[in-house]
Amino acid sequence: MEYKSIEWITASNKVRMLDQRILPGQVEYLEYDSAEGVALAIREMVIRGAPAIGAAAAYGLAVELCHQNSNELDVLLADYKKADDVLRRSRPTAVNLFWTLDRMYEIVNRKEYSDASSLIKLVLDEAHAIAKQDVEICRQIGLNALELVPENAQAIHHCNTGGLATVGYGTALGIIRTAHEHGRKISVLVDETRPRLQGARLTSWELKQLGIPHKLIVDGASGFYMKQRKVDFCVVGCDRVAANGDTANKIGTYNLALVAHAHKVPFYVAGPTSTIDLMTDNGDEIDIEEREGAEVVYVGSERIAPEGIDVGNPAFDVTPAEFITAIITEKGIVRPPFRENLRALFN
Ligand code: MRU
Repeated sequence: MEYKSIEWITASNKVRMLDQRILPGQVEYLEYDSAEGVALAIREMVIRGAPAIGAAAAYGLAVELCHQNSNELDVLLADYKKADDVLRRSRPTAVNLFWTLDRMYEIVNRKEYSDASSLIKLVLDEAHAIAKQDVEICRQIGLNALELVPENAQAIHHCNTGGLATVGYGTALGIIRTAHEHGRKISVLVDETRPRLQGARLTSWELKQLGIPHKLIVDGASGFYMKQRKVDFCVVGCDRVAANGDTANKIGTYNLALVAHAHKVPFYVAGPTSTIDLMTDNGDEIDIEEREGAEVVYVGSERIAPEGIDVGNPAFDVTPAEFITAIITEKGIVRPPFRENLRALFN
């Protein structure tokens, strides 16, 4: 099945997203014509995954300007600022959102437009460029990681980092995909990823379509499989990598890294360099999104815990750099010491 997490519809100047909340049971697309709508789609996780959120923000700005009725530059620029603001407040942890909005602002701030239509074109062209580059970057991450993937390997993967979490192809899952395409005979233990079950619902949906052997496991089973020496490496995505290598990713990633460390299993983080945030010194400075308790106490529409209890629902955790074997980016593989080597990547 051909699916796209996000796509621009030229005929209507709208942005279309695959509704990831209802996969795999229903495959439905939603269309948006405002930044407010896109921000809500990000917040409610119609679209999710750091790179996909970044692309959605870029198209959120573009769609807002396309549907602004005025031809006056001042009106458009004021609207742009409001759109930027509403998108910035959609989700706090994935730095790709802010990276994209900063990149878009830099382009707009160069003032290389003469009227409303040239401003709109500038913003839309940049959104298209971000989307196109995302797919190319993912493919390069997969190629760069090939040297780390042994023949007949079994990997553990957490959350969803595939074509759904990006504009296409995927980061950590892209690595698995590239290895499979290169005939490496790779299989995957798929963490279900409580509470929103991105692993069960999305990753296994993608792997099934790609024909990559996989087995769905509960998050707590990783130690069981590692103790049996059935895991060659762990590979996860990232929402923000701090300057010292500490990495925020889906809740449960830190637990997985600890188990991998105890069993001497390599623990790889994969992501585009736009997820590396050198302005954040270390993991303690990363803003971790806390989501509604309902995500934990309900599975689908069924309540599984008593009424009136306290619930903690941090959407992400931070894996300290000491538990990460390498960070795989489109610019190459970064190994410890991360502070020096991450900085070198940008020089
Ligand atoms: O809450 P989500 O589903 O947006 O969290 C996604 C993750 O944590 C992914 O691992 C990360 O964004 C990398 S996606 C290539």
